[in-house]
Amino acid sequence: MIALTRPVSPSIVRCELTHLARESIDFGLAVGQHGEYESVLADLGCDVRRLPAEPDLPDSVFVEDAAIVLDECAIITRPGAQSRRPETPSVAAALEAYRSLLHRIEEPGTLDGGDLLTVGRTIYAGLSSRSDAGVIEQLRFAAGRYGYRVKPVAVSRCLHLKSAATRVGPGTLLVNRRWVDASLFGEMELIDVDPAEPMAANALLVGGSVVYPAAFPLTRERLEKRGILVRTVDLTELAKAEGAATCCSLIFRELSGG
Ligand code: GLY
Repeated sequence: MIALTRPVSPSIVRCELTHLARESIDFGLAVGQHGEYESVLADLGCDVRRLPAEPDLPDSVFVEDAAIVLDECAIITRPGAQSRRPETPSVAAALEAYRSLLHRIEEPGTLDGGDLLTVGRTIYAGLSSRSDAGVIEQLRFAAGRYGYRVKPVAVSRCLHLKSAATRVGPGTLLVNRRWVDASLFGEMELIDVDPAEPMAANALLVGGSVVYPAAFPLTRERLEKRGILVRTVDLTELAKAEGAATCCSLIFRELSGG
């Protein structure tokens, strides 16, 4: 597995915020926590490759939002926040080494990668303040030819679909049902976040383990009781920038022949 990451920008203190009040971010601590996150990914078998730093782009550490990488192609997004659109060219340039086909979301559509949850051949596409219904047809055009179904999912009161639901095992999702209608996930097994930890639904599944913020011990206990292996990381500073475990990497299979 390849994990693309990007260094934390010193301008993260000017990041986009939608549902959180601005708090002071300790840049040195953020860099340390991000380094620890990369180490955990490497420990779990990822080949961690850093994209060039983008010191003038506050949210550029959140590389997940710039693309979705399928085995067959990559789709470069058009982020909903204007300030984030300059993040995509360097991600696209890097992905050219791994996928021969790159599709691009065209204006006026907007899409953040944090709104895309892929489970097998289904891509759940969150309709959020960042991603609009107009991109659904673009996603279907790009991914449908490879047999993917694209299912729109309304999300509310949170930034992205993956703030409300993420994969924690084959066929298992961790969800906050207050932010997403979980009945849309059909037959999948669901684990609810602890009610005291509404922000706890974002976990990053890597192989058989879940990379998970240390800030949510009650939900972590729920995961472990279900037999899920959890690797905790401190992500307090990136969380103040409305980032979470999935946002800080783009993880995909390296395929021979690109
Ligand atoms: N600060 C993360 C985002 O709003 O995109």
